[in-house]
Parts: sequence; structure tokens; C-alpha cells
Amino acid sequence: MRRMTIKSFLKSVTPPIIIDLLKTSVVHPVKEVASVSTLLKNKESVQSDEYIRWLCQITGGFLTAGNGNIVAFDHAVRHMPNDGAIIEIGSFLGLSTNIIIYLTAKHGRKNQVYNCDPWQFEETGKPVGGYFDASSVEFRNYVMQVYTMNLQVFSGDREPHTIENTSEQFLRQWAARSTVTDVFGKEAILGGPISFAYIDGAHTYEAAKSDFLGIDRHLLPGGFVLFDDSSDDSPFDCKRVVAEVMSNPNYEMISRMPNYFFRKKS
Ligand SMILES: C[S@@+](CC[C@H](N)C(=O)[O-])C[C@H]1O[C@@H](n2cnc3c(N)ncnc32)[C@H](O)[C@@H]1O
Repeated sequence: MRRMTIKSFLKSVTPPIIIDLLKTSVVHPVKEVASVSTLLKNKESVQSDEYIRWLCQITGGFLTAGNGNIVAFDHAVRHMPNDGAIIEIGSFLGLSTNIIIYLTAKHGRKNQVYNCDPWQFEETGKPVGGYFDASSVEFRNYVMQVYTMNLQVFSGDREPHTIENTSEQFLRQWAARSTVTDVFGKEAILGGPISFAYIDGAHTYEAAKSDFLGIDRHLLPGGFVLFDDSSDDSPFDCKRVVAEVMSNPNYEMISRMPNYFFRKKS
């Protein structure tokens, strides 16, 4: 009979969800502040949320139910300061936007969502699978129309202010407190404090750094920032920014599931 090591015994009696969480967010030398029980509770509640599971199945995008980003959204929405905006950089078809807005409704939060995307796919490169040209005008129109409909259908009574712009331009307008027209044809007055930011736009180091600096100026103490594709094994250069945030004394890391999620210290 094969001898069981302590490690294999513990593995055999530990539920898979706990193993998964331990792998992704706890047993790392870096200090993380959210307690294991809070993260587990959030992860379970997000994974079993019937609406999020359904929305992830029927909407195009990059998130699946139980994805660590959604657990971080849930944590941020529950714990962020009341008085600031929620900012999303990079909206694509609106899946993450609709999930964040749903979570504000679920947790009774009133923070307004603002987001931006230039929806410019010209530099997409060679045809996808050698077959589809995602740099075409037709694809851009498709994405913008589907985004607009996704938000009108699923977040109609809590529509965000979505600005068709790069984050660089959007954050400049935010700092200048500009009045702009959003993609739904509504007037939006930008600017003011920020409670939570999700950075998921251009994935270069330069873009992610400039997004972080543009947000940091307005992020309230106790506010959160989540960097998509910042995991240790991410192929994207944007992950280099998180090392700088880690050494910023104003921030503490909440978790990595596997993307880095920070809180600005109070
Ligand atoms: C990964 S997708 C976003 C996915 C979306 N957050 C979701 O989870 O459903 C990245 C998006 O960032 C947008 N993007 C690219 N460069 C950008 C920039 N400089 N500023 C803002 N958004 C940008 C792209 O057009 C694309 O729609």
C-alpha cells in the first residue's frame, strides 16, 4: 500500500475550493491583508451567484464565474468608500461593467460607474486564426453596438457614463472636471474622488502605469484598485506596475487571485 504523506493526506481531506484559494492567494511570502475567511466567503458567494454565472455564459468577454477578478469586484464594492466613483478602464463588450454594476445593486451601493474605451482595434495584427480580421470597421461597430445594448438591457436603470476615449484622454478629462457626452447620449460631468478602479485597458507597462497614476491622484483612502492581467505568470508587460505599487507605502495588497488587488491605506 502506498504511504500517505501529511501533504497528500491534507489534500485529500480539504475541499477543492480551499485548495484553489490557498494556491492563488494565501501561501505566498508577500503580505496580503484580507482574511482567508473573508476571501473564501466572497469567493463562494460569487461562484454560487446565479445571475453572474448566467451573465458570464450569455455575454461575450473574458470573465468566467468564479474568476478572481469578480471576487475582487465583490470585495471592493462591499468595502469601498461611499463618496467616490467607480472607474473602469477598458470595457470591451461590457461584461465586467455589467457585473460591477450588478454588484453595486446587490450590495446596496450608490457609487456611479464611469468607464472608457476607444474601441480601436486597428493594430490587432494578423487575422484571428488566419480567418477573421478584427481590425475591420465592421468589428469595431459590432463591439460598440453590442456594448451599448448589453448595458441598456442588463444595467438599464443603473447605466454607467461610458466615454469613447483612451484612458489617457479620459483621465485628463477627469482631472479637468470636463463635461462630456457619453455613448448613451447623456451629459456627464467627470472628476471628483474615486472609490474603486479596475484597470483593464491597454496592457503595456506605460499605459498601466499612467492609468494608475491618473487614478491614484483621486483615489480615496480606503479605495481599491485592481490590475487585470497582472498575475505573476501574465504574458503582459502591465504586470511590472504592480511591483511599484507593492513598494508604495500608501498601498497594501489585499489579494492576488491571481491578479493584484490593492487598497489605499486610510
Ligand atoms: C480585455 S478588454 C476589456 C474587457 C472588459 N473589461 C471585460 O472584462 O469585459 C480590453 C479593452 O481595453 C480597450 N483599450 C485598449 N487600449 C485602451 C486605452 N488606451 N484606454 C482605454 N481602453 C483601452 C480595448 O479596446 C478593449 O476593449
